[in-house]
Amino acid sequence: MTAAITPLTQRWSTLSWTAEELLARDSWRGTLPADVAAEFVAFVARRPGLTEATFVHDPCELPRMAAFGARVRESLLTGDGLFWLRDVGALGLAAEHLRCLFVAMGCALGAPMLQYGRLYPVFDRGASYTTQAVPVSMTNADTCFHTDSSSVGVVPDFVGLLCEQPSDRGGDSLVSNALTVHEVLQRLHPQALEVLRQPRIRDVVTPGTEKTIENLLRNRFPVFADSIGPGGVLFRYMRYWIEVGQQKAGQPLDAEQLRALDLLDELLQQPEHCVRFRLEAGDVFWVNNRLLAHNRTAYTDTPENQRRLQRMWIQAPVSA
Ligand SMILES: [Fe+2]
Repeated sequence: MTAAITPLTQRWSTLSWTAEELLARDSWRGTLPADVAAEFVAFVARRPGLTEATFVHDPCELPRMAAFGARVRESLLTGDGLFWLRDVGALGLAAEHLRCLFVAMGCALGAPMLQYGRLYPVFDRGASYTTQAVPVSMTNADTCFHTDSSSVGVVPDFVGLLCEQPSDRGGDSLVSNALTVHEVLQRLHPQALEVLRQPRIRDVVTPGTEKTIENLLRNRFPVFADSIGPGGVLFRYMRYWIEVGQQKAGQPLDAEQLRALDLLDELLQQPEHCVRFRLEAGDVFWVNNRLLAHNRTAYTDTPENQRRLQRMWIQAPVSA
């Protein structure tokens, strides 16, 4: 059965930005407030030998970080939908302490999800997601615009990245606004939107689910679904896992379904819907994984320089 299309009753004025609108404001990028930085540096100084593995989040010990996280969370949920924290490297923290700061900020945003561990290193493991069922985070490929997690029961609200070592050959970050694209589809392509609102099988990739045919057939949900959350829609997309999942289930996508995905990809890639930027060492980036798609350009490691990031998946508090 086809889900009803949500009537266009409200334009989420800041959430459904165009690239021009987003680039005209600075609310989505900034540095760590001085009082938050000072609090964290003092926290680290009181704990010799602190590592990410031993770091325990306690908002009473980092109240300024908690307040900062609450502001960023609000912006991710109802503001710009993304936040780029720059120049954290300028604090001069050791690599372990930088990871602790990233984890502290993630915990201030919500609850870390543990399917891949609290922190998950993202680097090129020499794998290809087109020949093995591995997450694209294990590869150096252009990932195409997507949201994280292909599992029906695992929906990270926010995805965070800490850049430890940028690539000097590619690896730029891209974010496209699926909420804005949804509005375009409602206005100009309602038939295609109807197709994108039908459930599709995704391949089982996210850890925690056995790769059986029963689980594959259960792993079925639409690209766009109605949501009671901000924006009114839930966007969950990675084309490759849909094509593979449908194929493995013996239900390859038909021409109309492929056309709808082509249109979606085209809209996500249009310059007015996406922004591109480059994370430097020490930068932290957060994105709303329910309304915005992310991507990175392909990159090449060299013996002298290997791109490396740490990732977190965060579930926002229910009341957020
Ligand atoms: Fe991703």
